[in-house]
Amino acid sequence: MSNNLLKGKRGVIFGALDDKSIAWKVAERCVEEGATITLTNAPVAMRFGEIQKLGEKLHAEVIPADATSLEDLEALFQKSMEAMGGKIDFVLHSIGMSLNVRKKKEYTDLNYDWMQKTFDISAISFHKVMQTLWKMEAMNDGGSILALTYIAAQRTFPDYSEMAESKALLESFARSFGYHFGERNNVRVNTISQSPTKTTAGSGVKGFDEFFDYADKMSPLGNASSESCADYCVLMFSDFTRMVTMQNLYHDGGFSSMGMSPKVLDM
Ligand SMILES: NC(=O)c1ccc[n+]([C@@H]2O[C@H](COP(=O)([O-])OP(=O)(O)OC[C@H]3O[C@@H](n4cnc5c(N)ncnc54)[C@H](O)[C@@H]3O)[C@@H](O)[C@H]2O)c1
Repeated sequence: MSNNLLKGKRGVIFGALDDKSIAWKVAERCVEEGATITLTNAPVAMRFGEIQKLGEKLHAEVIPADATSLEDLEALFQKSMEAMGGKIDFVLHSIGMSLNVRKKKEYTDLNYDWMQKTFDISAISFHKVMQTLWKMEAMNDGGSILALTYIAAQRTFPDYSEMAESKALLESFARSFGYHFGERNNVRVNTISQSPTKTTAGSGVKGFDEFFDYADKMSPLGNASSESCADYCVLMFSDFTRMVTMQNLYHDGGFSSMGMSPKVLDM
């Protein structure tokens, strides 16, 4: 169902890898709500070819960019503005990857070179995205920038490993850059803290399936799906949330406010 909430707006969406990706659903919903978008992902992710199919379906240009490369980001925003015919109204950062998790290194035995790479991909890339947009003056006044995060930034979830610190850094960048973008352009910057979701990045975490069921039972509304996350992103990109900025917004079916649920005791 479309309410044209994003009619006339232009957006750049990072991180659609396949149809399970949260960014994939967000891209579909944004276009359904009247937005024009460009899609981007790391050059290596293009090899699978899925994102091209999404681009064709949504009439969106697909522009490869490694989000850790300032040159790639500059070219991406330049090409995006050319393709869409003007400055950008909204951006979704939906990027996460941990080398230590992927290589199954324990938290008490982390490789620090990999950790730095993890922080660069999963958190510093968000600062790079915003700094590039800032310097290029590529955001329209009143725009909205979002990144996806997880509650492991606030509480300990041992198997999330160094991604916990990545998310803490990411959320802090949203607050700090939110100040500057708010003052200069009335652009808001927020993070959405999403429930566990069955995607490529999510399923990479040890014990994910059991944890998914636990979180589902802990949350009075159950786990939030990627489709409902897409709805929330649309709202945050729309003009209905103009005064919301520098916030970490829980989109988790109530999980973050729970202490214990009888359903979990029964498991
Ligand atoms: N799945 C979950 O349980 C969950 C929960 C909360 C938050 N999140 C967050 O949601 C976001 C999206 O993840 P997802 O679950 O949809 O998984 P996903 O694997 O579909 O998406 C992660 C994306 O990051 C991209 N990426 C990796 N390195 C990159 C680079 N150098 N440059 C550009 N892009 C790069 C990947 O290609 C991929 O498209 C991530 O920030 C993730 O941490 C996920």
